[in-house]
Amino acid sequence: MHTTLCDVLGIEAPIIGAPFGPWDSVELAAAICAAGGLGSLGTAVRPVPDLQRQWARLRELTDRPFAINHVTRPFDESAFAATLAARPAAISFHLGDPGDLVARAHDAGIRWIQQVMDVEQARQAVRRRVDVIVAQGGEAGGHSGFIGTMVLVPQVVDVAGDIPVAAAGGIADGRGLAAALALGAQGVAMGTRFLATPEMRISPAWKRMIVEADAGDAVQAEELEVLLPPYNRPHYPALGRVLRTPFLDEWSGRPAELADRAAELAPVLVREVLGGGGHEYVPFAGQSVGLIHEVRPAGDIVRETVRDATPRAVRA
Ligand SMILES: Cc1cc2nc3c(=O)[nH]c(=O)nc-3n(C[C@H](O)[C@H](O)[C@H](O)COP(=O)(O)O)c2cc1C
Repeated sequence: MHTTLCDVLGIEAPIIGAPFGPWDSVELAAAICAAGGLGSLGTAVRPVPDLQRQWARLRELTDRPFAINHVTRPFDESAFAATLAARPAAISFHLGDPGDLVARAHDAGIRWIQQVMDVEQARQAVRRRVDVIVAQGGEAGGHSGFIGTMVLVPQVVDVAGDIPVAAAGGIADGRGLAAALALGAQGVAMGTRFLATPEMRISPAWKRMIVEADAGDAVQAEELEVLLPPYNRPHYPALGRVLRTPFLDEWSGRPAELADRAAELAPVLVREVLGGGGHEYVPFAGQSVGLIHEVRPAGDIVRETVRDATPRAVRA
């Protein structure tokens, strides 16, 4: 299955593995790249030398294209400058207007993947001359907006012109990829599905939570906002979607009291997530948990997603 998304990113399968903020996804990204997709690495709240070690590790594992992600929460100029110097095939960006960052990436020969959560953000991405738009519906894990994937994707396709669109949010298998293509997208970005893989360096307990959860357990939790790093660039409205936990239930409906404890709890959270944990507080995951019933190797997920999205007549 080859689409214009593959041409623009230099990949074989029209599947982007999502970045995961501060969590280490080097082995996962390598497995996705090996299967023909685009692996991604997050950068949020991780010191630059750590990031550079991750990029070197990934380059030892694959010579295929991959993306390095940045967000506005917070945006780290030193990490961005280091990314330009490292020259990944693509930079992906989420939660805000990229402004002149796109031109800086293009000057370094790097493609720009812009994630958007509504059609106005997509129009802005087109004006910024991005190379790929990820239309992320509110079902998504991590930070997402408030429009469902089914409604958002065709709207974004209608304004994107020649720019390939990848659908994200709630996609976990070949049926999701087939639906994305039917909506006019040229591929998908999947996050939650790839968390439940042996290659992803998060705690087994978090993976188990994903496998056991129902779609309704993945909620946009306003309470947790006060614990997360601040936005430091103009940003788009979004909320983190996480699985319900005893911690969330304890603080539910008491954001002011949690804000009073933020100075004490936020550093604990950052320390935990940099070590691969944090799922007791922010087990980010999307509604597609309802479609995920086992931990599966990432390469199998890429191959099966493409196979199952291909009409039987073409496969035969
Ligand atoms: C644990 C987790 C962390 C995420 N961190 C980021 C991030 O740092 N940057 C980003 O652009 N997107 C991030 N996302 C969102 C993904 O890019 C993607 O839009 C989303 O996972 C797609 O929806 P799905 O989870 O339903 O597949 C994250 C998602 C998850 C589940």
